[in-house]
Amino acid sequence: MSDAAAFDFDRIIDRRSLPSEKWGRYAGRDVLPLWVADMDFAAPQAVIEALHRRIDHGVFGYTDAWTSLVEAVVEGLRRDHGWAIEADWLVWLPGVVTGFNLACSIAGEAGDGIVTAAPVYPPFLSAPGNTGRVLQRCDLVLADGRWQWDWDALERTADARSRMLLLCSPHNPVGRVFDETELRRLAEFAARHDLLICSDEIHCGLVLDEDRPHRPIAALDDAVAKRTITLMAPSKTWNIPALYCAFAVIPDAALRRRYRHAMRGLIPHVNVLGMVATEAAYRDGGPWRAALLDYLRGNRARVLEAVAAMPGLAATSPEATYLAWIDCRGMMAARGIEEPTAFFEAAGVGLSDGRYFGAPGWLRLNFGCPRATLDEALARLAAALSA
Ligand SMILES: Cc1ncc(COP(=O)(O)O)c(C=O)c1O
Repeated sequence: MSDAAAFDFDRIIDRRSLPSEKWGRYAGRDVLPLWVADMDFAAPQAVIEALHRRIDHGVFGYTDAWTSLVEAVVEGLRRDHGWAIEADWLVWLPGVVTGFNLACSIAGEAGDGIVTAAPVYPPFLSAPGNTGRVLQRCDLVLADGRWQWDWDALERTADARSRMLLLCSPHNPVGRVFDETELRRLAEFAARHDLLICSDEIHCGLVLDEDRPHRPIAALDDAVAKRTITLMAPSKTWNIPALYCAFAVIPDAALRRRYRHAMRGLIPHVNVLGMVATEAAYRDGGPWRAALLDYLRGNRARVLEAVAAMPGLAATSPEATYLAWIDCRGMMAARGIEEPTAFFEAAGVGLSDGRYFGAPGWLRLNFGCPRATLDEALARLAAALSA
């Protein structure tokens, strides 16, 4: 029995019987939802048991982060990413989106610029505007079968108004794990333009390519750390996003003070159950994560094989995440389809529309589900294309 089998990722858990964003969108319709980024797997047993123990206590009073929770995170970042952080650098947050909107709000002043690379997770595109800043978008390019930075375009994007580089690393939706050379070049770019770096590393526990370890950009050196706010959470890796517990790692004391100041009166404390789950995930969730990655590699292979056989669709191999980023423009042109999401929904599969990521004509497919669900969805896509 493989590790993945030991954890039974094949088990189909009915999510139609409870409210959920992912399945609720298609209530009453035979559409398999492969869109929003949560997985259809139960959280690790260690997390569920820790939650049960805490719930059985019965008292849910105000609670700040406690020592063993902080130790589990500090040790987890050292163990999994080789990053030695100090407990004081942690700022607890109810979510990563909250975290990067806050970062935008302290980057210069209203009217200043935030540089980010698209296509990207949609809230990256709205965060600058939410905080009165200006989005300065530069596009990643697909070259030699791999998504890459366009360094000249990045240079042209930044100007005297730019105050922050908002980075998604590993990257949603293109699935890249940026290597040390790329990270150093980004850090050098940020230093030259005197930019803060806000690095959303929520997907760092989901690296599928074993030869491409995630490297936190702030771990490059002290000078980079000083200008960086790193955002992380257990939510994607251990599939507990609705428990809303995340954290920022801000090594520089003055930057941390500014960040905390921006939170005052607006950002609530983190839910105690989210913190309980976080401690269990970082401390005891390693074997489950290893088995999950194994299972996801299998799912990724199926998606890539199936997409390669579908006329007019193309995808690169995601190095991290359970998300495949699929180019549908060939299919749209060949068949005169204007709305690829609607076309596949009509065939019984719900995907994310690339338009919201800044890339119309692309779709994002979430393969974080039991293989039987995935196989059925892929068969429906193939059938729609052969009709
Ligand atoms: C890059 C990225 N950041 C943040 C989030 C969501 O974070 P949270 O739910 O903690 O706000 C997601 C969810 O898909 C994501 O992909």
